[in-house]
Amino acid sequence: MTTANLETAAPDPIRFVGQTDGHLVLIDQTKLPVELIHIECRDVETIWEAIKMLRVRGAPAIGIAAAYGVVVGMQAAADKPMAEFESRFDEVVEYLAGSRPTAVNLFWALDRLKATFAAAKESGKTTAEIHDALLAEARFIHEDDRQVCRAIGRHGAELIEPGNGILTHCNAGGLATADYGTALAVMFTCQDQGKEIHVFVDETRPLLQGSRLTAWELVQRKIPATLICDNMAAQVMKEGRINAVITGADRIAANGDSANKIGTYGVALLAKAHGIPFYIAAPISTFDLSLPTGEGIPIEQRDPVEIIHGMGKQTAPSEVQVYNPAFDVTPAGLIAGIITEKGVISPVTPENVAKVVAG
Ligand code: MRU
Repeated sequence: MTTANLETAAPDPIRFVGQTDGHLVLIDQTKLPVELIHIECRDVETIWEAIKMLRVRGAPAIGIAAAYGVVVGMQAAADKPMAEFESRFDEVVEYLAGSRPTAVNLFWALDRLKATFAAAKESGKTTAEIHDALLAEARFIHEDDRQVCRAIGRHGAELIEPGNGILTHCNAGGLATADYGTALAVMFTCQDQGKEIHVFVDETRPLLQGSRLTAWELVQRKIPATLICDNMAAQVMKEGRINAVITGADRIAANGDSANKIGTYGVALLAKAHGIPFYIAAPISTFDLSLPTGEGIPIEQRDPVEIIHGMGKQTAPSEVQVYNPAFDVTPAGLIAGIITEKGVISPVTPENVAKVVAG
């Protein structure tokens, strides 16, 4: 475990050090904004725990971490015969797939590694060569996400006028991706283009990804930002301070219904009531075209302790019943556009989703 200077460190949330016998280094996001701690993950159990406990979080970052998790998990079978190597691969993939259910990027990344494994085996590669191929694919997914996020930023920035106030919910920033974010990529690009904006940040109960992570990233980049409690969004909209809402997504169905952090649906309803465009910013890897609508998106239920002991302090009686869904689904009808690396899907219809995602 290493710590770094909070003032000077740039977020590099995921780093793989070495070759197939290497290890994964993650920022422990549960410690931000107080401490910037890097954790070294040298076995797949540590990576599973890091995903489960939100030390690494955000849909694209979960996918990247899981891809490297497979590489690390295969170290235990590195010198085994093919049959054992293959059975270990299936075990590791299934294990990582059980860490969190909603972000489809996790399953997308694991599917990519499955395809890599199958192709490498089919072409007669040795177990060591297959392991190399898995690492190369994980690195590709990681590097590609940097380009994808920048393209999302460029497309999204075209929707923003100088002087706009933008509300965001949860954290869809550099920490949630390879390094540049999805929703926050739009704001970072506006800054790079010299377009002045002001970001309003929902604190995002119960785990405070907005106040702990998004506010931290915006402060680091010196983008003007104001933190609000989740229940203040309606008032801030009514005061005319919000011109657009942009959030990320964890899974988008074929009709554009989008799952994102709990509370996003409410923000979208508020935006509709105030005539403010609500945008989702997400990569193509966040679409799940196997689901016709958002009805089928699995919603993660999390431990009641996150609400009863909010941030470690008891805030409710231990015996009270708690409902703690981590995500909700915003219907496509409330979404003005989905900003992807291939352009903005608008209006959000099944036809337009299919055209952009498959195109
Ligand atoms: O539970 P989390 O913190 O992983 O939830 C994250 C979100 O809801 C993000 O908005 C989403 O994954 C998009 S990240 C680019």
